[in-house]
Amino acid sequence: MDPINRRGFLGAAGGALPVLASAATAQEQDGGSARTVKATLAYQEESRLRRMKWWHDAKFGMFIHYGLYSIIGHQEWVMESEGIPIPDYERLAVRFMPKPGAAREWARLAKRAGQKYMVLTTKHHEGFCLWDTATTDYNAAKQGARRDIVREFVAAARAEGLGVGLYFSLMDWHHPDGARCKDDAAARERFVAYTHAQIRELLTNYGKIDILWYDVDWPLSAEQWRADAMNRMVFALQPGIIVNNRNGLDGDFATPEHRITAADRAWESCATMNYGWGYQRTDEEWKPARRIVNDLTLCVQQGGNYLLNIGPEADGSVPRGSIDTLEQVGAWLRTNGAAIYDSDGRAAGAFGNYTNFTKAKDKLYVHVYFWPSKSPAAQMLDVLRPETVVAVGGVRSKVLSARLLKTGQPVRFTQDAIALRLTGLPDEAPDDPTTVIELTCEGTPYVRHHLIRPEWPRYGVNIGGQRSS
Ligand code: GLC
Repeated sequence: MDPINRRGFLGAAGGALPVLASAATAQEQDGGSARTVKATLAYQEESRLRRMKWWHDAKFGMFIHYGLYSIIGHQEWVMESEGIPIPDYERLAVRFMPKPGAAREWARLAKRAGQKYMVLTTKHHEGFCLWDTATTDYNAAKQGARRDIVREFVAAARAEGLGVGLYFSLMDWHHPDGARCKDDAAARERFVAYTHAQIRELLTNYGKIDILWYDVDWPLSAEQWRADAMNRMVFALQPGIIVNNRNGLDGDFATPEHRITAADRAWESCATMNYGWGYQRTDEEWKPARRIVNDLTLCVQQGGNYLLNIGPEADGSVPRGSIDTLEQVGAWLRTNGAAIYDSDGRAAGAFGNYTNFTKAKDKLYVHVYFWPSKSPAAQMLDVLRPETVVAVGGVRSKVLSARLLKTGQPVRFTQDAIALRLTGLPDEAPDDPTTVIELTCEGTPYVRHHLIRPEWPRYGVNIGGQRSS
């Protein structure tokens, strides 16, 4: 095989070099195909709203990257990035010993964190299957602890009332046909049949599955994967399921990775809590809870979901740093959940330097993540008194009342055509990591900043001898 790297894997779309480079970049960001093809399945289109309702309501999920790579602890691409030969890597399989109850721990943690669904890597690019599959012995039920981890995962998620998502990598570095299927028709025939059979097992043997989360479709096109037939089988087996866009088809939702970018369709941003998806033993650079809460809010503000990853250690234990942060996020959601879960679509054009915004029916939620506190400018500018105000420009709907979500305490305010000013607030942030102020508006909240400037009088400012009005 030609020398290949991660970008090469992901950027196999063809075309002239500059095009390939940008396609590869886009594709790498989404971890899937550079070109997705519109699905042709009528059932999928007709039933989409109904199938996706719970997921839109859920907003926040847990991603779990767990496999043989967790034993090495150099993230999930280690087999490729360190060039580990298959026979060596395979030897990890007999050492794969998740501790009893590991999946229960993940599910209980997700529940405490306020996450409503979980997505587990049933097979990552390494090719090792976490379920009891008849298609290969390279699986957790026949090696190591000899347990079906997918079965344990599904039971654990269900026990906590969480949605069940199965991640499945189409790319397979272990299967003998996983790469040669690109140019060898017989290998392709075998490998595509193998892949379809694995998906069939996953969607047949574990009861109701809520999400199928495909990943990396290298090296085949949607047509070569028979992705249409794949999705047709998926919906025949699980009529209520939703599927993502990484098998070469556009699926039910888009999957921006490591970035929060709204799409003009359903979307879910997936992100890590430190640098890696799979466990990295020395990576202690945890994103703080404020960053996680902000990212969740930014997704919801723009109508998307947030899938946040944990990378358990060899025995399935969750790294301490992830637990601490998820617990803080969960505690915040217990008082501020209305501002996230009830949110219904994009919060118009609201923005601020220290605020995010979500909306639900007649409520506008102002999420203050850097508490303004006292500014020396308050001594200089009348508009900044009384001190410690949170101000929001461009609120066009009439605000009827305001209160702190943390305590329910009412907040005083003034409103004119340009700005809403919340006054009488304490110097210290009332909540941590973010304080949410709930505004009840007359009708649907409407915020647009760029209406301010044209409407704002220029107060007779004199430039070049001309007085403005
Ligand atoms: C990419 C990576 C993979 C990770 C995934 C998560 O596709 O290849 O390691 O599982 O993104 O979105």
